Amino acid sequence: MGRRATAVLISGSGTNLQALLDAARAPDYPAAIRLVVSNRPDAFGLERARRAKVPAVVVDHRAFAAREDFEAAIEEELRLAEVELVCLAGFMRILSAEFCARWRDRVLNIHPSLLPAYRGLRTHERALSDGVAVSGCTVHFVRPELDAGPVLVQGVVPVLPDDDAERLRRRVLEVEHRCYPLALALQATGRVRVGDGGVVDDARPGERLVLHPLLARLAANSPSFGNEPG
Ligand code: GAR
Repeated sequence: MGRRATAVLISGSGTNLQALLDAARAPDYPAAIRLVVSNRPDAFGLERARRAKVPAVVVDHRAFAAREDFEAAIEEELRLAEVELVCLAGFMRILSAEFCARWRDRVLNIHPSLLPAYRGLRTHERALSDGVAVSGCTVHFVRPELDAGPVLVQGVVPVLPDDDAERLRRRVLEVEHRCYPLALALQATGRVRVGDGGVVDDARPGERLVLHPLLARLAANSPSFGNEPG
């Protein structure tokens, strides 16, 4: 199978986009980043795309009266670039149920918490005020409900005694940069599918594609793309 044409949708800094671009430089990485779409013209991720020589477009949500028109404009860009898979990477717009249905099981999102805990915003502040011992990130298939959908990969980090939201955010972001390339690779190879009880890895039925030790194991199996630095 050829490399799966992938678009990355962003709204901001794009460090997860960078992790995906870096991973996709490996010749055996199973996805190619063919397009970057930002809903914000000032997103630094656009510069990252330019440096990586990946086409980037701005589809500014403020230019559209209705969400369907905004999404139609994005989908037109995806169609023109012949995109098969989509990664939301800090894309801060909610996609409609219709969009989610048309792209079902072909859109991934990364969220800075261990879902289903802390959906929505201010994840790190809420985790700290609850006094949790671990936090992390989740890559999941997108469904119309906010920050919900079958979990593909989770990365876990400890919450340390002197953490504030910014320190925790940085620690989680580091593990995001390892999880997202791994998750996209798993999806792009067709090795995983969404079953009744969540994501199934046909090579390892019954095992969850979650938690940090698993990252190490998968990285050992796939040294060229399993453990890219952020
Ligand atoms: C990341 O922490 C990502 O998990 C989060 O936004 C940040 C984007 O950073 N996404 C969400 O909160 C979506 N619900 P980046 O632009 O540097 O990749």
